[in-house]
Amino acid sequence: DRKIILGIAGLGTVGAGVVKIIEKHKALIAARAGCPVEIKAVSARDRSRDRGVDLSAYDWVDNAVDLAEEGSGVNLVVELIGGSDGPALALARKALGRGIGFVTANKALIATHGKELAVLAEETGAPLKFEAAVAGGIPIIKALREGLAGNAIESVRGILNGTCNYILTRMEHEGLAFDDVLKDAQQLGYAEADPTFDIDGIDTAHKTAILATLAFGTEPDIENLPTEGIRNIAPVDIEYAKELGYRIKLLGVTQQTAEGIETRVHPAMVPTRAAIANVMGPTNAVVVNGDAVGQTVYEGAGAGEGPTASAVMGDILDVARGAEGPRLGVPATSLKPSNPVPVVKH
Ligand code: HSE
Repeated sequence: DRKIILGIAGLGTVGAGVVKIIEKHKALIAARAGCPVEIKAVSARDRSRDRGVDLSAYDWVDNAVDLAEEGSGVNLVVELIGGSDGPALALARKALGRGIGFVTANKALIATHGKELAVLAEETGAPLKFEAAVAGGIPIIKALREGLAGNAIESVRGILNGTCNYILTRMEHEGLAFDDVLKDAQQLGYAEADPTFDIDGIDTAHKTAILATLAFGTEPDIENLPTEGIRNIAPVDIEYAKELGYRIKLLGVTQQTAEGIETRVHPAMVPTRAAIANVMGPTNAVVVNGDAVGQTVYEGAGAGEGPTASAVMGDILDVARGAEGPRLGVPATSLKPSNPVPVVKH
């Protein structure tokens, strides 16, 4: 009898959120998956920390890679460790190499090693899913891979980092300095383990690189992605922008131009009447233009326990249902080099 037997690596904010949903919605999940979905083993650095969930029924594994070993009994690995290399990469290679499904929220991993992992997954037939890697709770990967698959995509633009949008919102509303608000974002579980990834636009760049791959069939190419964050934005900049009828937002953009695919991350002045200017707090928004569909807009929580865990669950259910296809939208071996076009600064 078919059964999804999970091994979860990483029990931070998102990992604990996934465990909670699986326990709370057992019957609903089994019905939607068409088979039982159970957690067998977990792995995290600190065994003793109180995560607000009962983990006593699961096997504890010290080395995350062991979750994907034959003897573990696990048939679907969920990676919530983070980091583009180290244990996350080792676990991905091990699981996919054995033909075991791999679900991840790790944008750094997919933006850096996405092609290699997709080639491996397509060779062994293993599912590879990363909905939670981009825009938290918004199902933008599924939108691009599935619902919009019949379109030639023209552009994908968005607010992709909840921490930065939360910081910019509070700076504007309360006139607070950057550092004070960052601490709150960390406490609320929005920020990356290393918050410079948020502030310097690196997290947005990881997500934008992944969107470019899905939209345009290009290799994820984080190396050549022009990236600027919000570190140098002061309350006075926000004030001046407002007087002129603009709001400052950190945007990730990837679009088809006459010269090629242009992909970039930087703070932008957005007219306050534009829908995207009114996306506040840890919220994300993505605007996609396709030749058949026209413009579609997606908005929702981009970070935090529930929204990110929701996206991970969507992937687990996808794997349970058995739908596959090219992992990065087109066969991984056919991905084109990104050939970045130079960004013109205005
Ligand atoms: N640090 C990220 C953010 C988490 O703030 O958006 C979600 O990827």
